[in-house]
Amino acid sequence: MIQHGVSLGIGTSHGPLLNLPPAEWEVRAEFDRAQTDLALRDGTFSFAELYAHRGGPHFAAKATLDERTQRHAACQRQLDVLGERLDDINPDALIIVGDDQHEWFMENTQPSFAVFCGDEMHNLAPTAEEREEKIRRGRGSDMYAYRPKIDQVYPVVRDLALRIHAQALEDEFDVAACMEQPKNPDGSLRTVGHAVGFIYRRLLRDRPVPVVPILVNTFYPPNQPTPKRCYDFGRSIGRAIHAWDSAARVAVIASGGISHFVVDEEWDHKMLKAFRNGDIATLTSEPNIMFRSGTSETKNWIVAAGILEATSLKMELLDYVPCYRTDAGTGSGMAFATWS
Ligand SMILES: [Fe+2]
Repeated sequence: MIQHGVSLGIGTSHGPLLNLPPAEWEVRAEFDRAQTDLALRDGTFSFAELYAHRGGPHFAAKATLDERTQRHAACQRQLDVLGERLDDINPDALIIVGDDQHEWFMENTQPSFAVFCGDEMHNLAPTAEEREEKIRRGRGSDMYAYRPKIDQVYPVVRDLALRIHAQALEDEFDVAACMEQPKNPDGSLRTVGHAVGFIYRRLLRDRPVPVVPILVNTFYPPNQPTPKRCYDFGRSIGRAIHAWDSAARVAVIASGGISHFVVDEEWDHKMLKAFRNGDIATLTSEPNIMFRSGTSETKNWIVAAGILEATSLKMELLDYVPCYRTDAGTGSGMAFATWS
């Protein structure tokens, strides 16, 4: 049966621990131990300060190789399920909400919200130099979670992207229009960012389903939109989809989150419960300072929740898996959900 509008929503973490064998998580642990600005709620800590703040070594038992292996496997099971759900509804269009981490947008211009309106997007295979650099940083294993082995082209639903812009203007959002894929100073294309690339590589297995990329600056000061603004922008996107005169089956995907690179299970449960209950008040009143570092990507889920508000789809949490890689509780809170 052809359904008008949104047929499926997905929320998925996309962090590096999903793409590194558990024995290689140590590489990221070393990275954590060198940090001086680990963000947890409204505090900022060095690794030693974080270890003391969180009351010592009890996270070590959750970060053993055995635990890592079990938790990694639990995540892979849910990523497979999400891929199957996408196969089942066979969408004609994807709305992917993700953050740009200096992949398309750099320090010179960083839009709070951007909608890509080109005809197609190119996800490029890593160059030999990029491969070497990744391997040098100990992250060779996760390279192909985001980037293809052979260049890929993804068609863009330009008509819907332009409608999202038009609706945003109606709704008093001034959203950046990205009319062509950004280029590097040498004229080469900037490849698709990790938040979008992960969905194509891991969930779609490179199936070139047409897409509208919605890019949110969750990470970088000074212009990260507030949770309320994210939710309201999502509502506006939802109105644009609803008014689109098309029989297309649309899937909405939030890419990223939940808490990282300091795992905060209590906060993750609070937010996931709010998503499940459609608790807009909780989602939109959370202070902006709670959304820092990778945790900020939870705002991608808030945009998606706003898009899905006017549908009859209900959120189901498939699994929440806190993945720890150090005894100070650094790692990623991984969540996998559908709205169906
Ligand atoms: Fe990310």
